[in-house]
Amino acid sequence: MNLCVFIIISILLLLTTTTASQLVAGGEEGGDDRNGANMNKCLEKERLALLLFKAPLYDRRGILASWRADNHDCCKWRGVTCSNQTGHVTGLDISHFDLGGEISHTFLNLTCLNHLDLSYNSLLNGTIPRSIGSLTRLRHLGLSDNSFYGTIPPEFGNLTNLQYLNLGSVGRYRVENIEWLSHLSHLEWLRMDGISLAKQNYWVDVILSLRNLSYLSLEGCELSKIIYPYSLFLNSSFSSVESLYLGDNNLTSSMYRWLLPLTSNKLRFLYLSSNMLDGIPKYLGNLCSLETLYFNNNSAVVKFPDFLNNLSGCTSHTLQLLYAIGSQFTESVSDEIQKFSSLKSLDLSHNHLNGSISEKLWELPRLQTLDVSFNNLRVPSTYHLSSLSYLHFIDMRSCKLLGPRFPKWIQTFKRLTRLDISNAGISDTTPLGFWDMWPYQLDYLNLSSNNINGKVPDLLSNFAKYSAIDLSSNNFYGPITNVSSTLLSLNLSKNNFSGGIAFICQIFDGLLFLDLSDNSFIGQLPDCLWHFKRLKVLNLRHNNLFGRLPPSVGSMTELEVLYLSKNNFYGELPLSLKNCTSLKSLNLGANKFSGNVPLWIGENLSGLYVLILKSNNFFGTIPLQLCQLSNLQILDLSMNNLHGIIPSCLGNLTSMVQQEFLQGVEFYKTSVNYSYEIETYVDHAIIQWQGDEREFFSTLKLLKSIDLSSNDLTGNIPYEITNLYDLIALNLSKNKLSGEIPSTIGEMNNLLTLDLSRNSFSGRIPSSMSHMSLLNYLDLSFNNLSGRIPFSTQLQSFNPSRYDGNTGLCGLPLPKNCPVDEKSKVPPPAGKSEGDEEDIDEVQRWFYIGGGMGFATGFWIACGALLLNRHGRHFFCFFYFLFYDSFKD
Ligand SMILES: *[C@@H]1O[C@H](CO)[C@@H](O)[C@H](O)[C@H]1NC(C)=O
Ligand SMILES: *[C@@H]1O[C@H](CO)[C@@H](O)[C@H](O)[C@H]1NC(C)=O
Ligand SMILES: *[C@@H]1O[C@H](CO)[C@@H](O)[C@H](O)[C@H]1NC(C)=O
Ligand SMILES: *[C@@H]1O[C@H](CO)[C@@H](O)[C@H](O)[C@H]1NC(C)=O
Ligand SMILES: *[C@@H]1O[C@H](CO)[C@@H](O)[C@H](O)[C@H]1NC(C)=O
Ligand SMILES: *[C@@H]1O[C@H](CO)[C@@H](O)[C@H](O)[C@H]1NC(C)=O
Ligand SMILES: *[C@@H]1O[C@H](CO)[C@@H](O)[C@H](O)[C@H]1NC(C)=O
Ligand SMILES: *[C@@H]1O[C@H](CO)[C@@H](O)[C@H](O)[C@H]1NC(C)=O
Ligand SMILES: *[C@@H]1O[C@H](CO)[C@@H](O)[C@H](O)[C@H]1NC(C)=O
Repeated sequence: MNLCVFIIISILLLLTTTTASQLVAGGEEGGDDRNGANMNKCLEKERLALLLFKAPLYDRRGILASWRADNHDCCKWRGVTCSNQTGHVTGLDISHFDLGGEISHTFLNLTCLNHLDLSYNSLLNGTIPRSIGSLTRLRHLGLSDNSFYGTIPPEFGNLTNLQYLNLGSVGRYRVENIEWLSHLSHLEWLRMDGISLAKQNYWVDVILSLRNLSYLSLEGCELSKIIYPYSLFLNSSFSSVESLYLGDNNLTSSMYRWLLPLTSNKLRFLYLSSNMLDGIPKYLGNLCSLETLYFNNNSAVVKFPDFLNNLSGCTSHTLQLLYAIGSQFTESVSDEIQKFSSLKSLDLSHNHLNGSISEKLWELPRLQTLDVSFNNLRVPSTYHLSSLSYLHFIDMRSCKLLGPRFPKWIQTFKRLTRLDISNAGISDTTPLGFWDMWPYQLDYLNLSSNNINGKVPDLLSNFAKYSAIDLSSNNFYGPITNVSSTLLSLNLSKNNFSGGIAFICQIFDGLLFLDLSDNSFIGQLPDCLWHFKRLKVLNLRHNNLFGRLPPSVGSMTELEVLYLSKNNFYGELPLSLKNCTSLKSLNLGANKFSGNVPLWIGENLSGLYVLILKSNNFFGTIPLQLCQLSNLQILDLSMNNLHGIIPSCLGNLTSMVQQEFLQGVEFYKTSVNYSYEIETYVDHAIIQWQGDEREFFSTLKLLKSIDLSSNDLTGNIPYEITNLYDLIALNLSKNKLSGEIPSTIGEMNNLLTLDLSRNSFSGRIPSSMSHMSLLNYLDLSFNNLSGRIPFSTQLQSFNPSRYDGNTGLCGLPLPKNCPVDEKSKVPPPAGKSEGDEEDIDEVQRWFYIGGGMGFATGFWIACGALLLNRHGRHFFCFFYFLFYDSFKD
């Protein structure tokens, strides 16, 4: 205790003396009488230079807050270092400070700098002054990843002490003649990414003259455009480079000739991704130190056995990591692989491998991770493997030929912790013991989109902390009894699981994603949802769940997606649900919920994009508060017992006015290769569409729809609704609405489907409807409409039954002619008689044909409509996806 007091007092004394001596030394700048504690005091001239350097900078994160005129010792400013002996500023490092603005050249007055790094401030702008060549003490210079531009001055050649030079900066610097580089003989680390070397025919010679260079990165330098005089370096020795990055250069294999002297037996890391290489030359296979080879995204076809063969010199004993993702490898993983005795990680995903995987692969003594996903590799269903393997990661996603038998040999890999064999054409039962044989515990298991059946006895003992399990789209059945308490993600959807869902109460806190949809789970939703404070997605759709929603739903404050549709939940919505303020998508359709549509939905759940309450027993009126949901794109209150009027404020649903679309719910999801991916979750919803129920998948996010059909709504359509000119579907059918259809309805000219049938609308069909050039489904039947059907390219093309039950209507497409006085209003085309096909122009004929031929033609009809609508492009896409979905169903 006493000791502490002593120390504190000593420090205080020290501080006082320091300040005092600083005050004394105040005016005499650059004095040499430095001693003891005030050695680091900065020079006034350099302090000024730094302040002037700061002046034009935009420091959005306040990182340079310590750089102040009243803060005298600039040696203590963030990013500044000074010499112990002289007090001169020797280091200025503001890299990654997120600065903007112009670079001031006053840093040139810091003449003793040996370390200058301005890199990674993407908005820092300006040119590099020629006089930078005067900073001859520089050993470290970083100018990369800014908005600097202009020519690299030849004065760089004066910086002969440089050991580190980072100039990478996508396409903003130019180099006229790279000769200056050869003077930097101490250089050990050089990055010039994005600087075109297309005119530097001798760059290899220059590099070879840098005897100590060990790191060289020349990505995106247009190296393929160099016509290299190959003979020049024939008698030079090999470079000392250990890490060589040549990605993104459009290199073809002819470049390997000049690459030769750059690749000595010191090379440990070689990056050749994003080129057009059709293989590897044999000399690379004789590099007895190469440990890592990147060959991703090469666009030329390579036979993988040849690739292995060329690498199989002494490189095969040293190579530890081989990555060739998204290239054009063909054929098999051949027996040659057995030579690669040091291989720890092999990633051949997203290639065109279509042969078989050699048994030798599994015998590699050091192999830990294997990714051969997205190929067509054949794997025998039985292998005779030793169980000594270290393999702990296998990704064989979308290897369609893995099945149809379950790959039982996987059970040989006792150390496995991550396994993905999803979408691999497996149609089989899980082998005996599969669920209790992982002594190292799985933290990622994905068996989804196969046809695997069997019970799942235990999701607990074999799973590590924070694991993710996806068994979706299989034929698993039976109850789930035990699950791991630390699961991050559980997807059991689209199986035949049964029994209660109380098992979810075993999961605590961390869960982010839970999808149990499309199963036969039965029983109540347990009141343990306070475990799920971090849950983003809860999907229980289409099961046999029933009962009231427990109050604990309100504790899921991070929840963005809640799907409970197609169950038998009943009762009023619990008030606590209003705590779920992160909700974007709420689908409670097809249950037996009752009570009023709660006011707090509009007041509290302001982030909602999708609100589906259809097919329940909600009663009362439509609350005005719903109009506050400015993001709402899908509002479905159909098939309830709602009465009263349609609130005119629905015209305030601004997202239906703007061309913006639901972005989906983003959340982090673990993936097999340890990374966290942002997954966008836009689930499907079933929407009443053009008279049928239609399931929307990817298109759901494009849909903007209001469905209030099959209620007891009265009054007329408020004209404000017609402000929703981005709306695509409006269904008000089967209500007790009356009055005239608003004359401005034609302004909703993006509507594809409009259903006003089975109400009591009267008066004429507004002539503005003839502007609705995209309208593809219209139903006005069983109202009291009268007068002539306005003439347009499509109002005549609908089946006459869509106008049935309106005794006063006349004109095409009804067989009933209008009285003579009506004719003058919209004259039929001259010289043609009514009902004659010839009087309809070509486009209209297409509509006629389309009307009778169902959906596939609907697609082409929209293309036709494209010609008529200047915003048509957007709808082209829309229909394209619809078409696609209709096949996916
Ligand atoms: C920087 O150096 C130049 C030339 O030596 C001089 O003119 C200028 O005043 C100096 N600027 C500062 C801030 O010291
Ligand atoms: C300053 O000098 C002290 C003692 O001579 C030494 O330990 C320290 O590393 C030096 N600091 C710098 C930045 O050179
Ligand atoms: C950088 O400065 C130049 C010239 O002053 C200017 O044209 C350019 O817009 C600036 N760029 C940025 C990103 O500030
Ligand atoms: C720097 O380099 C230029 C051109 O390479 C040269 O003319 C000049 O004398 C050198 N020295 C200094 C101190 O700038
Ligand atoms: C190269 O590195 C070695 C060992 O670090 C050193 O002795 C030698 O002086 C360096 N040569 C040059 C030109 O920097
Ligand atoms: C090749 O070697 C000879 C003799 O060692 C030397 O004189 C000549 O300059 C070298 N050529 C190149 C391009 O390095
Ligand atoms: C690489 O080649 C492609 C296609 O040949 C071309 O579009 C692209 O501009 C080239 N890139 C470079 C950096 O030369
Ligand atoms: C809902 O929020 C209120 C106030 O923020 C809080 O008192 C209540 O406990 C919450 N309900 C639940 C179920 O978390
Ligand atoms: C709808 O918008 C109008 C005009 O912007 C505004 O006066 C009215 O209060 C809004 N109604 C509701 C219910 O938000």
